[in-house]
Amino acid sequence: MKFNEEHKAYPHIKSLKDKDLKRILFICLGNICRSPAAEGVMKAIVEANGDSSRFEIDSAGTGNYHIGDLPDRRMRVHAQRRGYNLTHRCRQVTPSDFDDFDLIVAMDESNRRNLCRIAPTVEAENKIIMMADFADITTRYDHIPDPYYEGAEGFELVLDLLESACANLYDNLK
Ligand code: 4NP
Repeated sequence: MKFNEEHKAYPHIKSLKDKDLKRILFICLGNICRSPAAEGVMKAIVEANGDSSRFEIDSAGTGNYHIGDLPDRRMRVHAQRRGYNLTHRCRQVTPSDFDDFDLIVAMDESNRRNLCRIAPTVEAENKIIMMADFADITTRYDHIPDPYYEGAEGFELVLDLLESACANLYDNLK
C-alpha cells in the first residue's frame, strides 16, 4: 500500500504541500544509526526528483552520547552499499528545533515520548509524526527498530523500512 493520497493520520501534512520550503527533522535516540540514515535516504529521494531547493532535511538524537560523531560505522557501510553517503555529525535535539522545522519525525514510541517532553507548545507537539506510519503496510512494523545491538540484518531492515517510509512521506509532501 502506498500513501499517494493525503495521509489519514496526519491531515495537517497537506498544508505543507504549498509551502516553498519544507523543513524535516528526523529523530532517533543516538542520532548515529536510524535518523542519519533517514536523512540520507530522504535527501537522495528529494535530489532524484530535482526538489532539493524546496526541502531542508536534518537529523538529531534525543540522547547526548555521541555528539559530534559520524554515523555508526556499520550504518555507514550498509547505507553506502545502497548508494547513500552518510556524513551527518551527531547533535542533540533542542526545543528550538520545533520552531526551525515543520515536521519532527520519530523512529519509535520512546523517541516520541521524549520529544513530547521538550515540545514547547501544543502546536510544536503536533509537528511530531511517526516514521513507520509511512512505511508500506506489508512491512508489518509500527516502529523503526533500533539496530544498535543487532547484526547486519538489523541495519538492512532499517534501510528497507526507511526507503519505503521516506518515499511515501515524499509523495505526501511533493
Ligand atoms: P539510533 O541507535 O538511536 O538509531 O542512533 C542507537 C545508537 C546508540 C545508542 C542507542 C541507539 N547508544 O545507546 O549509544
